[in-house]
Amino acid sequence: MRKYFSVFQRKPRTQPRPATYHTFPDPAHVVLLRSQLLSWYDREQRELPWRTLAVTEPDLNIRTYAVLVSEIMLQQTQVATVIDYYNRWMKRWPTVEALAAATLEEVNQMWAGLGYYSRGKRLHEGAQKVVTELKGQMPRTVDSLLKQLPGVGRYTAAAVGSIALGQVTGAVDGNVIRVLCRLRAIGADSTSPAVTEALWGLANTLVDPERPGDFNQAMMELGARVCTPKGPLCSQCPVQSHCHSYRKRKTSALPDIEDCASGTCLLCPSEPWDDELGVQNFPRKPAKKPPRVERTLTCVVVRPGEEGEDEYLLTQRPNKGLLAGLWEFPSVLLEEESSEMKQKRALCAEISGTLGTHLTESLFQSVGEVVHIFSHIHQTYVVHSMRLKDGDIQAQSENAQWLSRSALQEAAVSTGVKKVCVVFPELVSKHRRQETTDLKKTQTGCSEQRRQAALPQLLLQDSQTGILMELCVRIPHGASPCA
Ligand code: ADE
Repeated sequence: MRKYFSVFQRKPRTQPRPATYHTFPDPAHVVLLRSQLLSWYDREQRELPWRTLAVTEPDLNIRTYAVLVSEIMLQQTQVATVIDYYNRWMKRWPTVEALAAATLEEVNQMWAGLGYYSRGKRLHEGAQKVVTELKGQMPRTVDSLLKQLPGVGRYTAAAVGSIALGQVTGAVDGNVIRVLCRLRAIGADSTSPAVTEALWGLANTLVDPERPGDFNQAMMELGARVCTPKGPLCSQCPVQSHCHSYRKRKTSALPDIEDCASGTCLLCPSEPWDDELGVQNFPRKPAKKPPRVERTLTCVVVRPGEEGEDEYLLTQRPNKGLLAGLWEFPSVLLEEESSEMKQKRALCAEISGTLGTHLTESLFQSVGEVVHIFSHIHQTYVVHSMRLKDGDIQAQSENAQWLSRSALQEAAVSTGVKKVCVVFPELVSKHRRQETTDLKKTQTGCSEQRRQAALPQLLLQDSQTGILMELCVRIPHGASPCA
């Protein structure tokens, strides 16, 4: 196995700079790459609403706002998911003033299902700041976007600055990291400070001074559609001739005369090149921490509504932290050291307090389990239900409300709650049917394996967002799906 080290040993520099192998030292190559990439982009780019606005909107303030909204939504969320949210958002709040006049509750409602809810909150705070402190004028430079708007980091400021304001700066997001690491065979940890600085340096060298916004979006587009994490389409790549990884993929068995010549390179991988991976040797990231495993006891409290439609009790999460300000079914985090009975009692006491009445946990009916995976938490909702006969029973605090099923679909709730809520009636009826069948089918000998194998995998469509949600639902022991 060949180490991916230099063949020429140089004296270590006190302040190491990237070896020319990892840069674009020849200006002619830079000019060529720009033109190849932009020609490809002009032919192949997807028509996206924020791109159309960036080109057609003559008002600089609206254009900057429109691009900012898209970039905030696109942080950690796929283009396909963002499009519909973006169109609805811009229709409702077409200007920064309109957004500033909205309430946080309305913003959360609009954001429901998009995830990472602090993004919507910050966008709203930023709009209010622009209106109250900046005379309604969106910042006009990368630096001021970065300094003046909450939730705007280095990438977002550069993307908005280049796309909306024509500022000449590179922009490095996840897609661009992958493209650049492959182009220049950068295989050290892509989250390290040395690699981060090198990538921004490369992006700033490459960006086209005439069309900085298009160039940056072309890099993102290339990363999203051609230079993909798995199964990259190298044969369709417009900048293949500049790609060290592509060349390496063919010549890795030969002496590495073209490799990095620095002996102490902070951009070279510490692991050897793996022929099987090809260009997918790059980029390298440190292993992800496994998600935290949590179980949450949730109770769907139902009362008969006025027009015969059931209503559900929702409580509001605190204003800070995960899913801040969103509505959920009354819940408690299950702690390992505490018994489930004790925690049911605690949840029941909380619901009793919320409704100003005395309820007992014997009213709890086990419904099932719903799994929802956040980026860093593997959450299982252990769902119970409680049906109240009294339709007049009122919520006693501002942070609790009764909602009909249709109102619930429109409310500011997270995807996890939507999963519970979408699946709830189906589960209850299934549960009831199964209980009846279970009673009839005594001693069927249904094994745990058969029970597990029969776990229903449901694919449900959210009525508001159209997003398909895969639900993994576990039916409680008493209600066997073997029936
Ligand atoms: N991801 C982040 N910004 C983007 C943009 N403007 N177009 C496509 N994907 C993106």
